[in-house]
Amino acid sequence: MTDIKTLLRKGCATLAPLAGYSDVAFRRLCRDFGADLTVTEMVSVAGLNYKSKKTVALLRTAPNETPSCAQLFGSVPEQFERALSHPDVAKFDILDVNMGCPVRKVFGHGEGSALLLDPERAAAIVRALKKGGKPVTVKMRLGVKDKAGAVDFAKRMEDAGADLITVHGRTREQLYSGEADWDEIRRIAAAVSVPVLGNGDVDEDNIEERKDGVYGVAIGRGAVADPQIFSGRRTLTRLEVIKRHLAYGEEYFGERYAVTALRSFIPFYLKGIPDIKRIRNAAMLCRDRDSLLDVLGEADV
Ligand SMILES: Cc1cc2nc3c(=O)[nH]c(=O)nc-3n(C[C@H](O)[C@H](O)[C@H](O)COP(=O)(O)O)c2cc1C
Repeated sequence: MTDIKTLLRKGCATLAPLAGYSDVAFRRLCRDFGADLTVTEMVSVAGLNYKSKKTVALLRTAPNETPSCAQLFGSVPEQFERALSHPDVAKFDILDVNMGCPVRKVFGHGEGSALLLDPERAAAIVRALKKGGKPVTVKMRLGVKDKAGAVDFAKRMEDAGADLITVHGRTREQLYSGEADWDEIRRIAAAVSVPVLGNGDVDEDNIEERKDGVYGVAIGRGAVADPQIFSGRRTLTRLEVIKRHLAYGEEYFGERYAVTALRSFIPFYLKGIPDIKRIRNAAMLCRDRDSLLDVLGEADV
């Protein structure tokens, strides 16, 4: 089996999975700027088994996604094992398991962050996926309410065969607010022998410092704010980034969907530009490519 360290270099910066954002168009864009790995949005293994068209669409890949990584969620080890033979899953180089999603519906089904409370089941899921003979990675939070079990949980995942662990330095209860606990992330990295990617609040100012004591970093919202975070320098203007994002979106999903999908990014892409409110609001109402680019062209973005 390929060693994860040959697929992913030390000091890497990856795009964290972001439901509603990290579709194939955005992942391709992040790879253009040097993201070392991009991960799909979370895909339900139960949905896959019912041949849901939507989940299959989530598993499209871009040509520059090498290696490729799909994130799966669920709670039944046998469903993960069955997913291995699904052709749209089988094409991925790395499989990641979601053990962090805080959403009530997911948690209530024993999926996502609920697995932090059931290390036995979580380990069985890792073992089931390992039968595919590919690297299996885990994305976890520090706990549900407290962080006391975080190191032990990570060790259990390593013992079950996880090849890499991404640690989002928050508990489920914290959702996405409060500071990520990087001391705890580093404690986990020191306690396990597999690579650990630290995750939580990485931005362009702290990215290099965050890489201390971990194998690499996973970036979520910092990449939505500026996908050029991966190249470490801005070579394109914001408008050029938006145009490229839109072109990729059109290629995969068609114009109407691409323009709508871009709306979630517009507030982030335009953040910090003085007096941008009117243009931002107008951009959010656009339904086609030309009117969107006309509106944005009015501003010096
Ligand atoms: C809108 C949104 C969607 C997310 N979707 C997923 C997901 O599908 N799978 C996952 O493991 N984490 C998901 N996350 C969590 C992120 O991957 C990441 O752990 C978290 O945002 C902290 O990193 P950041 O501060 O760099 O954004 C999501 C976060 C946000 C804000």
